[in-house]
Amino acid sequence: MRTTVGIIGAGPAGLLLARLLHNAGIDSVVLESRDRTYVEQRQRAGILEQGTVDVLRAAGAGERMDREGLRHDGIELRYDRTRHRVDFPTLTGGRSVTVYAQTEVCKDLIALQLKEGHPLLFEAEALAVEGADTDRPRVRFRQEGREDVLECDYVVGCDGFWGVARKAIPAELVRVFERTYPYAWLGILADVPPSHEELVYARHDRGFALLSMRSPSVSRLYLQVPEGTDPEEWSDDAIWDELERRFETDDDWRLARGPITQKSVTPMRSYVHEPMRHGRLFLAGDAAHIVPPTGAKGLNLAVGDVVTFARALTHERETGSAELLDGYSATCLRRVWQAERFSYDMTTLLHRAPDAAPFEDRLQLARLARIASSRAAGTDLAEAYTGFPFG
Ligand code: FAD
Ligand code: DHB
Repeated sequence: MRTTVGIIGAGPAGLLLARLLHNAGIDSVVLESRDRTYVEQRQRAGILEQGTVDVLRAAGAGERMDREGLRHDGIELRYDRTRHRVDFPTLTGGRSVTVYAQTEVCKDLIALQLKEGHPLLFEAEALAVEGADTDRPRVRFRQEGREDVLECDYVVGCDGFWGVARKAIPAELVRVFERTYPYAWLGILADVPPSHEELVYARHDRGFALLSMRSPSVSRLYLQVPEGTDPEEWSDDAIWDELERRFETDDDWRLARGPITQKSVTPMRSYVHEPMRHGRLFLAGDAAHIVPPTGAKGLNLAVGDVVTFARALTHERETGSAELLDGYSATCLRRVWQAERFSYDMTTLLHRAPDAAPFEDRLQLARLARIASSRAAGTDLAEAYTGFPFG
């Protein structure tokens, strides 16, 4: 099999890239190791930056998002039993975010790709990328028990943190920057209308909690738990009791409970792989970088990477200049590091480390009070949360 761009992975990065290339008249093949149902059901992100919404819309993938997505103009920070709202449009000159789940973004892009796009192969597992530094890179893959080769002009590894693409970059050219955290998130989906109209990020002495949503009738909530926690250790009642404690305020706010339909634990990690390109192999999304989820940046970073790649390849096609392709890694990494910084700041602002000293507790409260009382500090958060420009 032969194509212009071989894309490994049908998460948000790979699917959106295939769509952008299709729109630019460039052919591609997407190889995805899992089946369609698995990819469409995998619960993850929920917040789309303004720039991500604009890109999906311009790519012709925004119809259902525009109907069902919920525009949010702010978030609430909750600490010391008090509440502070950060208003995005006032602080950023009109920007906001949209609540529309990653599962739905993927479903929309898969439907479009299968209807009018180039091939998208499920249960096709990439085994290795070969010849990354030649003019004819190849992806060796396995489908239905048979091995095959996809010959390409370019390969884009959109295969997530556990993928194979980045292994094709020689170790002596690579630098990895990494941090793990001594806690994780227990996430639930519950059939109950969200107890607040906007997201609530809560800092509590017992640990962080987040109230989010998937629709006006489905809540998504997260609790900080020790790393390595088994979700089955937590009964539904214990989860609701703990959420209630961490969201407690001095006013009459109440947390509504409902049936929990899904429960899982996500580890927290910061990770950057430099460079994001080797020859004709490009890395995009979680394949190249991971942020802890507190800033809601992962999916949005993946979108920035593939927009940058699609622009660079289109530029090369139109002008013959490889300048933007050559600058791909540096261009992406500037934005990646801003998101790494913000995600780290939000994580350490709101989580309680198991060995936190009282000094650190006070510092967290002082940082929160600063955001609540200084327009400059509030603006810094609002600008980062609603998103840094692509490229
Ligand atoms: P992935 O979604 O991981 O997709 C990679 C794909 O490659 C997968 O489908 C995988 O099956 C496939 N694959 C892997 N190996 C192979 C192979 N060898 N061959 C073929 N296919 C392969 N981000 C936000 O922006 N906002 C949020 O609110 C947010 N919240 C989050 C909450 C949680 C609990 C979690 C876990 C993450 C959250 N994120 C959030 C992060 C976001 O989900 C990820 O950053 C995003 O999924 C990255 O997309 P991707 O396409 O790069 O990788
Ligand atoms: C969600 C996830 C996040 O990491 C976040 O910061 C906000 C919302 C969510 O899944 O809804």
